[in-house]
Amino acid sequence: MREQFSKIGFVLAMAGSAVGLGNAWKFPTMVGTNGGSVFILLYLILTFLIAFMVFLGELSVGKITQKDAVNAFSDLAKSNKKAWGFAGFFMIGAILIVCFYSVVIGWILKYIYLSFFSLPKNTQEAGALFGNLISSDLISQIICFSIVFIMVFWVVSKGIKSGIEKMNVWMMPALFILLILMLLYSFTFDGFSKAFEFLFRPDFSVLITESKLNIPLILDALGLSFFSLSMGVCVVLTYAASLPENTNVIRSTLSIIFINILVGIMMGLIVFTFVFEYGANASEQGPGLIFVSLMSLFSNLGIVGNILAVAFFIALLFAGLTSAVSMIEPFAFYLINKFGISRKLALVYIGIFVYIMGVFCILGFNKDYSSYFTFFNKNLFDILDYLTSNILMPLSAIVTCIFVGFFVDINKLKNLFVPYMSEVGFNIWFVFIRFICPIVIAIIMINSL
Ligand code: PHE
Repeated sequence: MREQFSKIGFVLAMAGSAVGLGNAWKFPTMVGTNGGSVFILLYLILTFLIAFMVFLGELSVGKITQKDAVNAFSDLAKSNKKAWGFAGFFMIGAILIVCFYSVVIGWILKYIYLSFFSLPKNTQEAGALFGNLISSDLISQIICFSIVFIMVFWVVSKGIKSGIEKMNVWMMPALFILLILMLLYSFTFDGFSKAFEFLFRPDFSVLITESKLNIPLILDALGLSFFSLSMGVCVVLTYAASLPENTNVIRSTLSIIFINILVGIMMGLIVFTFVFEYGANASEQGPGLIFVSLMSLFSNLGIVGNILAVAFFIALLFAGLTSAVSMIEPFAFYLINKFGISRKLALVYIGIFVYIMGVFCILGFNKDYSSYFTFFNKNLFDILDYLTSNILMPLSAIVTCIFVGFFVDINKLKNLFVPYMSEVGFNIWFVFIRFICPIVIAIIMINSL
């Protein structure tokens, strides 16, 4: 019997997985580069029309079977059981993500340390600091990555209840308190109203470019909604395998989505308040918005800036760690079941791979070694990011839709969902899962190639 979460433990752990660097870094950055509110509107629409539906599909596979991803797919398949089991190997995507994701959490750790002492005075200094960290400071990066690595694997080694659930039960509320305090503080700045306007007053002109619908904008919004809900790499499936009986799956899913959106918007308000207050660039790319723009703004506030920077990076650390933990569990759970090995041994195998790949990602940024880790003009970090977000996740979402829509006994799905969404709701969801979601995602994938 699979170890189970408590009801609130599941919502917190799944929200902990969803809320992560995606909300803190990808969300504000993409909103910034894509003109603000319209992007948020698109993100919201796609989250509810597509991501929500697919999320329920993935959840159903785990909840009904209570097995690891490979066994769950093969158990639930009406026919070709063995072949369907391969769909479970999308969980490897989560292992690939954790390799580069932990490197970013390592940078965050370094920035917590830095923020205690001195903050860069302007954007140039902040840019140089960040550039120097990733291009030549191997020692710091490896130390910070190693600390993150040990924390993450230690928590997963404790299992679902006393590791993952326990971590989320205190880190998620702590994250919320930190965010609320920072939000209240940003409220006292003039920049807040500009940030609010930027995020909530739609300017529909960005939707149309050269009198054509801006498709790339729509693609970005969908990709972000998958990544930020941790979908397509069997995390939802694996956590759902530990869902307690009689959980209202619809209410839980909506709570998770609500928390995820709320944190994204809170992060956006905080980041853009400071960006507008001190006139930095709202459309800064990549890690620049957080590690460069925001970092240089804090120094305007003197000692309060140091406190704020420490609080901000601790919040990011919590958000990142609770997500990283969720990426390892699917594969660990599979190895334990498949080979009958202990949790510790499974983690040793996974750990060796993640550690080596993580160090390779770090070397990929280093000025002396990057040439060895650069392929097709992209470094290893970017390759893993692209491969997982743009290829594996959407592909897995399509496979899940087809599987749930056509190869699972419909009565099993009805038993799970009808009590919480009524017969009519179920039929609507089923049309989405069978036709609308896979077709929309396929169009998006083809366009993004
Ligand atoms: N949802 C996490 C975030 O927003 C990332 C993640 C992706 C977590 C896939 C688990 C699996 O940062």
